[in-house]
Amino acid sequence: MLPTYLDCNATTPMEPDVVREVQRFMVDEYGNAASPVHMYGTVARMVVEKARRDVAAVVEADPDEVIFTSGATESNNLSLLGLAEEGRRSGRMHLICSAIEHKAVLEPLQHLESLGFEVTKLPVDRGGSVNVEALADSIRPQTLCVSVMHVNNETGVVQPLNLVAEVLSAHPAWFHVDAAQGFCKELDMLKLKRIDFMSVSAHKVYGPKGIGALIMRKRRSLPNSLSPLFRGGGQEQGLRPGTLPVPLIAGLGMAARLALRDQVKRKASCMAFRENAVEALESLGALIHGDQRRVLPHTINISIPGVEAHQSLNALKNIIAFSNGSACTAHTQEPSHVLQAMGVQGDRLHEAIRLSWCHMTENVDWDRVCDIVKKLQGGAL
Ligand SMILES: Cc1ncc(COP(=O)(O)O)c(C=O)c1O
Repeated sequence: MLPTYLDCNATTPMEPDVVREVQRFMVDEYGNAASPVHMYGTVARMVVEKARRDVAAVVEADPDEVIFTSGATESNNLSLLGLAEEGRRSGRMHLICSAIEHKAVLEPLQHLESLGFEVTKLPVDRGGSVNVEALADSIRPQTLCVSVMHVNNETGVVQPLNLVAEVLSAHPAWFHVDAAQGFCKELDMLKLKRIDFMSVSAHKVYGPKGIGALIMRKRRSLPNSLSPLFRGGGQEQGLRPGTLPVPLIAGLGMAARLALRDQVKRKASCMAFRENAVEALESLGALIHGDQRRVLPHTINISIPGVEAHQSLNALKNIIAFSNGSACTAHTQEPSHVLQAMGVQGDRLHEAIRLSWCHMTENVDWDRVCDIVKKLQGGAL
């Protein structure tokens, strides 16, 4: 028997309907969307434009505000590095982000620092929410961009983007949101009109890997404020040239449609799973990280006293498959920068694990999990 997959924040399983859609455009409808001079190309073009409308609908954007990319990493890079030229031209060389951003935001910003830009990192509170007063204190006339994530990948905490938008209401800074973890899951924050750039990823929402989008609100961000990272055939308004991966785009479009259709059902099943998980984990004395009033229902980040993360990962590996943090940093064994920013210290930091599930996750034998963890706590394993 395979262990139950509890690492949906790293990547989700694909919805069966999405698999069928991807396969259809891989096997039967294999035209190039840039060749609509025959039937194959026309069908490809039509499905791409349908997917664009479906992705836009999730956040109430216009379809022409959606630029397809390879995923959230690329969208983050395109937004942040793509603004550098404007920053240099206008003398606005200051950027702000939260201390709990994903590496796919922190590293492009680090690169901008090496090019002479200045970056301010905002602290977060103990519950894992960005400190919005600190934003108000640190923003300057020369601030080019403020980047705050939508939902944290390690804790599941939804960030107060509405309050960030209020602070930015009278400021010209671009507002970028890494929405990889919340797009199609938390549906309100991303409708904020003040957000200029949103990075989204299909493989976090039951779609295929290697496709995502940058959603750019036209009000201010088009046509010329972003410079492309690649040059080529002019696709995607010249911002992301290259032949469009039609099967993957069709899959992302289907994933977006299903998310809107099934949102209530999905949330209910994630909540039900959560109740059982929390009950079991609390019986082990687990300390839950992140403000539980602000988390999405499919993520829990906990420290189990007396059991280091590598011990629980190893002892439970045949029952549940989970993670000791972000998939991108799990292999480094470095303590989480997110939990450290929240003030988690010492043993609690090394005991921290993340369980993340979805509406397709099957039940877990929590009694068996608890038995094993109690043995670890008692030193019997
Ligand atoms: C918050 C966040 N941003 C960006 C990414 C990277 O997304 P992608 O795999 O689509 O490049 C991830 C994936 O782990 C993420 O959780």
